[in-house]
Amino acid sequence: MDLFEYQARDLFAKHGVPVLAGEVIDTPEAAREVTERLGGRAVVKAQVKVGGRGKAGGVKLASDPADAVEKAGQILGMDIKGHTVHKVMLAQTADIAEEYYVSYLLDRTNRTFLAMASVEGGMDIEEVAATKPEALAKIPVDANDGVTPEKAREIVEAAKFPAELHDQISEVLQTLWKTFIAEDALLVEVNPLVKTGDGKVLALDGKVSLDANADFRQPEHDALEDKSAADPLEALAKAKGLNYVKLDGEVGIIGNGAGLVMSTLDVVAYAGEAHGNVKPANFLDIGGGASAEVMANGLEVILGDADVKSVFVNVFGGITACDAVANGIVQALELLKSKGEEVNKPLVVRLDGNNAELGRKILTDANHPLVQQVDTMDGAADRAAELAAAK
Ligand SMILES: Nc1ncnc2c1ncn2[C@@H]1O[C@H](COP(=O)(O)OP(=O)(O)O)[C@@H](O)[C@H]1O
Ligand SMILES: [Mg+2]
Repeated sequence: MDLFEYQARDLFAKHGVPVLAGEVIDTPEAAREVTERLGGRAVVKAQVKVGGRGKAGGVKLASDPADAVEKAGQILGMDIKGHTVHKVMLAQTADIAEEYYVSYLLDRTNRTFLAMASVEGGMDIEEVAATKPEALAKIPVDANDGVTPEKAREIVEAAKFPAELHDQISEVLQTLWKTFIAEDALLVEVNPLVKTGDGKVLALDGKVSLDANADFRQPEHDALEDKSAADPLEALAKAKGLNYVKLDGEVGIIGNGAGLVMSTLDVVAYAGEAHGNVKPANFLDIGGGASAEVMANGLEVILGDADVKSVFVNVFGGITACDAVANGIVQALELLKSKGEEVNKPLVVRLDGNNAELGRKILTDANHPLVQQVDTMDGAADRAAELAAAK
């Protein structure tokens, strides 16, 4: 999950990275009071999860509270690379003498963490990285050792920061590392890290990307999610604890096990070619132990997707036997009916593996008008695609 700049700023402050005071507002008028609080001047900064705000006109200096109201009015509602600005941060102004760059990220290719730093930071860092790679120092950081004072010094020297700033930047590198580790981030970036006229080092812009795999041990991160931007079906699925990703096709998919669901997507996409190019509408792994409740939750999310024309339930019985899954399906359909949810899309069910015969019999006996069974994965995918195309 990527954060807004103001959220990154808050995390930096929490872990001791030096930042300036700032406040977030969503109406121009609110800028007056905040600017007064910040000392009469402010930088007005668009809060969108995309870089290059400065160049797009989303970062403006306001010389007094009235000017801040005007600048906030110009920036709120602005479109920056397809992102509408709903909030601006007003920040104290810095007297910038130099702009630097520092970041930590997970370097998947080399299976390590990586520190990057440059004395040529600011709005053109991408160009520096592309045309002058020698100006961007890259230092691997061992996950077990982390950024020790010695490692910080190595980074500072590799990036050729001015000698009089070594101690300050070394301190920033250590607090930034603390942020990276304590928050389970995949990326923390400061650009620009500035030297002010009076020789202080400050983080003026921050980018943080958090690792969703660590959500279970980061309860405070839930509050950082931008709920308004989430896909409503994905949000519903998340609330129900389902492993769901919305895709843009027409065949709803439910399977048990991520690998099986991935191959189901392939098989449906392939089968769909013969039926007017229908495609999978989602990824949904209900995992092991497909209880009636989990099945009902899954069906509820998928049937709530207006793009879905048919549903393919693909189950390979293992530890969870097919009869349990079949009972789950039957009970899920009853559960949805009792909740007044309309089930009006055809379901193609393929059961194989442990207790498949028994599972199939349970569905045959239940004789639900919308449920059809096909015994092979390819055959069921073809049937589901055909039904989706016919709608
Ligand atoms: N608080 C501030 N005081 C003075 N100048 C700032 C401040 N924040 C940003 N700037 C200037 O605006 C430029 C762009 O802002 P930044 O926050 O880095 O946005 P982006 O990276 O999206 O363009 C910075 O490189 C810096 O020169
Ligand atoms: Mg920046």
